[in-house]
Amino acid sequence: MCGIVGYVGPKNALDVIIGGLERLEYRGYDSAGVAVIADGQIRVTRAVGKLENLKKSLEDAAVPAVPHLGIGHTRWATHGKPSETNAHPHSAGKVSLIHNGIIENYMTLRADLEREGCIFRSDTDTEIAAHLCNRYISKGLDLFNAMKAMCAEIKGSYAFLVIDERYPDRIVAAKNSSPIVLGIGAGEMWVASDIPAILGSTRQVVILEDGDITEVRANTFRIEHDGKEVERTPMTITWDPVTAQKGGFKHFMLKEIHDQPQVVTDCVRGRLRQDVGSVELPELPPTLLKEVQRVLFLGCGTAWHAALLGKFYLESLARIPCEVDYASEFRYREPVLDARTLVVAISQSGETADTLGAVDVAVKHARTLAICNVLGSSLSRKVESTVFTHAGPEISVASTKAFTTQVLASYLLALVSAEQRSMINKAKLAEHTHAIALLPMAMQAAVATESSVREVARRFQTARDFLFLGRGLCYPVALEGALKLKEISYIHAEGYPAGEMKHGPIALIDDKMPVVMVVQRSPHLRDKAMSNLREVHSRDAQVIAVTDTEGDKELRRYAAEVIEVPFVSDLLSPLILTVPLQLLAYYVAVLNGTDVDLPRNLAKSVTVE
Ligand code: AGP
Repeated sequence: MCGIVGYVGPKNALDVIIGGLERLEYRGYDSAGVAVIADGQIRVTRAVGKLENLKKSLEDAAVPAVPHLGIGHTRWATHGKPSETNAHPHSAGKVSLIHNGIIENYMTLRADLEREGCIFRSDTDTEIAAHLCNRYISKGLDLFNAMKAMCAEIKGSYAFLVIDERYPDRIVAAKNSSPIVLGIGAGEMWVASDIPAILGSTRQVVILEDGDITEVRANTFRIEHDGKEVERTPMTITWDPVTAQKGGFKHFMLKEIHDQPQVVTDCVRGRLRQDVGSVELPELPPTLLKEVQRVLFLGCGTAWHAALLGKFYLESLARIPCEVDYASEFRYREPVLDARTLVVAISQSGETADTLGAVDVAVKHARTLAICNVLGSSLSRKVESTVFTHAGPEISVASTKAFTTQVLASYLLALVSAEQRSMINKAKLAEHTHAIALLPMAMQAAVATESSVREVARRFQTARDFLFLGRGLCYPVALEGALKLKEISYIHAEGYPAGEMKHGPIALIDDKMPVVMVVQRSPHLRDKAMSNLREVHSRDAQVIAVTDTEGDKELRRYAAEVIEVPFVSDLLSPLILTVPLQLLAYYVAVLNGTDVDLPRNLAKSVTVE
């Protein structure tokens, strides 16, 4: 998510804001900007790229007087490519506004505002908020009530900060789903997206809640919720600055595992039509999936595992023949491609050299699509269209929230494809959208297995080999669990199709090898999985079962440990079943003392072959 810093008080607001944004740099961003009020005038400076570029532009802009109020932003692009024009703050009239989140109905609002004569300069969703705010102030509302009226029109997630030179002593902010904290000082106040931005200045903070709107001045602040004034008790933050960057978690990986209920919500935001029970991917050419006869998924590492699930989804829902290939293999095997083939490249960073090289081959002969987390990435600029996962910056080398949102995005793609190819009826589609709406709660419950998974990790932390088994949709989950464990704990772990055990790997089984068995309740595979479980159990394996079935007595008879997650639907179980495996890898690694976020020999984005 983007970084936000606002300040009002006796200090130079520019220094405070830039300092705060620098403390949020670790989160990743692609452009930055500030708006300050100096000498009764708003001055806006923006720059693409790093804060150094913004500071250079500020020197050139030479703000005349010392500003004591302002807002600043580091942007992680969600709508509109990284550029100075798309950087925040966005202005309209005397208003300057910054925003974290996604405005779902911005196209409709933009059309209305354009009909009223508003001129738009960016292709962001945020700019409509500046025009809306300005419209209400022009109608006679003050800054606070203009924000209220604006938020009443907006659907989506937001942390808004707005200033107006007609109100030079205050910042107004509004929160829904994206975080805002108030920092309380003596005769000065901060407003930020994250605690690290203000920790160097104050430890007294107020955490805003969804629906809060606040007006902040140097010596006071007030908060309204549902039209009524509310008190929010300040809390004292005891974190050190490094811990604060991880939201209080010990490692970015654990923070990002915990982010998953939120990011699956962000991934489907604006794409799920609960009212009509359908799914929309407006970024897709409307008949793309109708025109192609075959889909070829590409990826590396975790992205390749997500591609395996994408194949399941597309074949079972849209009945399109699919293949999955490692990008590093595809690019050198002279693949058979034509205009009726769609190559879908999956990548968190959009900068993986093997994936980019594979797409360079694909674009010559086939249609292309990406599932990617980073707007403006090389991959998203090479393909015809991109479905962005909106997982926010993923800092830890081990991919967690990127994986679950890649899988979710491929599921949405499969549903849209099924509808385009008339392979699914409205009733069935509504079942799928209902299941997706339940996903965030199920992911939260899966994250809540943390303490029991930590005990399992403690029990098996000295093992030197692990086997991860799964059938059907659980097979890619087993592969992903094995990859997580090996890449951060350096313990050898292998993912395998459970049905393949009897063709060799079962020779490995003994009482020293923990076997993680991923079992989902879908009837036609559960019985097979149970017979595989009995096979390994009879050879003294220590079985750790991860299942979406509650209170499965048979499972408990053969497994030394059972971790249960909620069932939402067969197709969504892989996302939920993955979470305990991420936690298992994390805690085994922590117990083994490895560098969880920066494991040896690995890079977050493998930009070399
Ligand atoms: C996943 O935990 C690994 N860090 C690695 O396998 C990663 O998934 C792979 O390098 C692909 O990266 P990408 O998604 O950025 O293309």
